[in-house]
Amino acid sequence: MARYRAVIVGAGRMAGTIDDEVVDYAACIRPYSHAAGYAEVPEVKLVAFADPDIAKARALQGRYGVPRVYDDYREMIAAEHPDIVSVTTPATLHAEIVIFAAEHGARAIYCEKALCCSLAEADAMVAAVEGHGVKFNTGTLRRWHPGMEQVRRMVEDGTLGHLNSVITYSVGSVLHSASHFFDLMLYWAGDPDVEWVQGTVTSPGFDPHAARWEEDVDATGIVQFANGVRAYLLSTAVWAEFAAIGTRCVVEVRNNGMEFQLRCRGNVGGYEEYLPAEFPPYERVSPTVRLIDDLVHALDTGGETRQGIRTAVKAEEIAFALIESHRQNGARVNVPLSQRDFWMHSH
Ligand SMILES: NC(=O)c1ccc[n+]([C@@H]2O[C@H](COP(=O)([O-])OP(=O)(O)OC[C@H]3O[C@@H](n4cnc5c(N)ncnc54)[C@H](O)[C@@H]3O)[C@@H](O)[C@H]2O)c1
Repeated sequence: MARYRAVIVGAGRMAGTIDDEVVDYAACIRPYSHAAGYAEVPEVKLVAFADPDIAKARALQGRYGVPRVYDDYREMIAAEHPDIVSVTTPATLHAEIVIFAAEHGARAIYCEKALCCSLAEADAMVAAVEGHGVKFNTGTLRRWHPGMEQVRRMVEDGTLGHLNSVITYSVGSVLHSASHFFDLMLYWAGDPDVEWVQGTVTSPGFDPHAARWEEDVDATGIVQFANGVRAYLLSTAVWAEFAAIGTRCVVEVRNNGMEFQLRCRGNVGGYEEYLPAEFPPYERVSPTVRLIDDLVHALDTGGETRQGIRTAVKAEEIAFALIESHRQNGARVNVPLSQRDFWMHSH
């Protein structure tokens, strides 16, 4: 029985149509979009979409059988008094909408990645979300993928031994793509604080002297977490592959989560090597549904979500710290950064 009412701001792909794009793509476990996710969570009823492009809102209204649409999200939130607000607009609008929702009664927010476009925006979002006691998760869905969760469990239960390092083989754009990858590195490492970052922007034409960038840039670097785990952020041709390297076992994630390969230390002719082992089976459940379930659980219990806005801000800090390191000719920069006003576009 539904006990929470949800609305979605933005009526595009991630709101309700991206499921059609991944029908034959095993890396994505459907339902993928917010609307399709809510449809599978019995505790939540989706009651409205808002989009200035009202035709898009009407198209999703028909598809998901949702009672109302609006061309202004403020009007929708004021009229609907939703418990949960989904934010699926471009990232340039996330801060404005999250802050408005938090200040106008939302009890939980599911905000798409990238969190926002500057650390000043992130700080304002934290103040609004925490100030109003709002439960919060971002759409960095690898954190909610059951195979990625299995890796985290294997870190926690000691299967991997001591987690020494985590690797992403691609960064892509530091806000748009890498918000996913940085969040996964944080998740596997146990969501530690970030101590320092050292990096280089690899996008040609990047102007380190600007304070505002209209292009989300690619970068490569190293992140030192406070718990000793180190993340290596590579910029290779391999897309969305990852490794968690422990002193006993190594997990390598291939093809964006379609394959999980485990190797554990064993003796070969008197030498210790990492030998193939079986990655434990996991249930293929939708990350989107698991994320929404986590919000429902936090609302039901009054507890915290498993991710929360502070973790999302850590990924945003890594992005801007890579840029700051580049600006300082590759120096190690301590996190949190003192300069919070740099702004970068992300769609
Ligand atoms: N988690 C994932 O795997 C994943 C996948 C795709 C996109 N995304 C994220 O989702 C967000 C949206 O991406 P998309 O691909 O769905 O884009 P999209 O362009 O398909 O949809 C965005 C929608 O927001 C609407 N919009 C613009 N201004 C608005 C406003 N003021 N109020 C309400 N609606 C407004 C647009 O009209 C559009 O319909 C981005 O932050 C993107 O990074 C996440």
